[in-house]
Amino acid sequence: MLSRLWQSAMIALARSGRVSRVMQNGRVTSGLSRRFIASGDETVGVARAQALLSEQGLRASLFYLGEYVDQPALVDENVAAKLAVTRALAGTGLDIHVSVDMTQVGHLLDPALTRRNLDTIAEAIRDAAASAPSPGLHCLMLDMEDPSVVDATIALHDDLAERGFPVALTLQAYLKRTEADLAAQIRRGSRVRLVKGAFVGEPAYAYTRRPDVKANSRRLIDAMFSEDAREAGFYPIVATHDAHLIAHARDRARAGGWTPGRYEFEMLLGVREPLARALAVEGERVRLYVPFGRDWWPYTVRRIGESPANAALLARALAG
Ligand code: FDA
Repeated sequence: MLSRLWQSAMIALARSGRVSRVMQNGRVTSGLSRRFIASGDETVGVARAQALLSEQGLRASLFYLGEYVDQPALVDENVAAKLAVTRALAGTGLDIHVSVDMTQVGHLLDPALTRRNLDTIAEAIRDAAASAPSPGLHCLMLDMEDPSVVDATIALHDDLAERGFPVALTLQAYLKRTEADLAAQIRRGSRVRLVKGAFVGEPAYAYTRRPDVKANSRRLIDAMFSEDAREAGFYPIVATHDAHLIAHARDRARAGGWTPGRYEFEMLLGVREPLARALAVEGERVRLYVPFGRDWWPYTVRRIGESPANAALLARALAG
């Protein structure tokens, strides 16, 4: 209960434009955000990705920060940043792996604009990937936001996939609908990143207790590593810092004959990195989500909301 209240408070704080403006202009910028983001432009983000791979054997998905954007000029800026990081990744030998939120690229303004923008980014990733190593690992990864965006995100994912673009989709275990959404993606042989969900829902459509979200995550992982999924060419991405779920996924993989590289684990920069390194040393494919850019407040506060233990981090930054 306490952790749910804490998470709800942090989500509200993340969505406050006024607080965001004050904080991002203020002195706490570097102190708070340093742990969770690679502050700077695409060059800094790509340098961080190169270091993660060469020093720790971890792959990266690059994410230019910014969400719930309702101004055309900012949407254009976000699209330009996604294209810039795609260009910066090309020729480095790294995966051309770029994460995108629908509300960054026009969802709040116009569905047709969102589709055009996603097409532009997906084309750039496809073109850059054509001359890059590790075929199959490059993709436009669609993040998943609040429940109002889920239908549109899945529809655009399916549309891009049907037209042959390298695309992947995030689904959230806290939503009751995800069982059916995942089953449909397994039939399509998609690439799906499963997360618990960074939002708090209502009992009518969501699991609201942490143990229930975890139990559903376990059931969804079972489906991701099923015989049907393997036959369909489905690619499971288990994105969590929960050691029990990671162990469960590895058990399911072993039992079903999935070898490392036929699936992957993904974690967030700054969260349980020793666990990520240990998995990579044991031969698992592990990716870190690497956010970069100026708009650090909403993302950072959402991360702080995921663990009441992070209250001290917030308090220290505000005091210092
Ligand atoms: P859980 O929250 O139970 O954490 C397990 C343990 O990890 C905790 O006990 C704690 O020790 C540690 N931990 C986890 N988060 C921490 C934090 N922020 N700070 C400190 N310690 C922490 N969500 C979403 O709604 N849409 C999306 O598109 C994405 N995308 C995404 C990509 C990737 C790569 C990841 C890893 C996660 C997301 N998420 C997301 C976020 C996700 O929904 C979820 O909120 C967080 O991953 C936290 O849940 P865990 O599964 O890690 O478990």
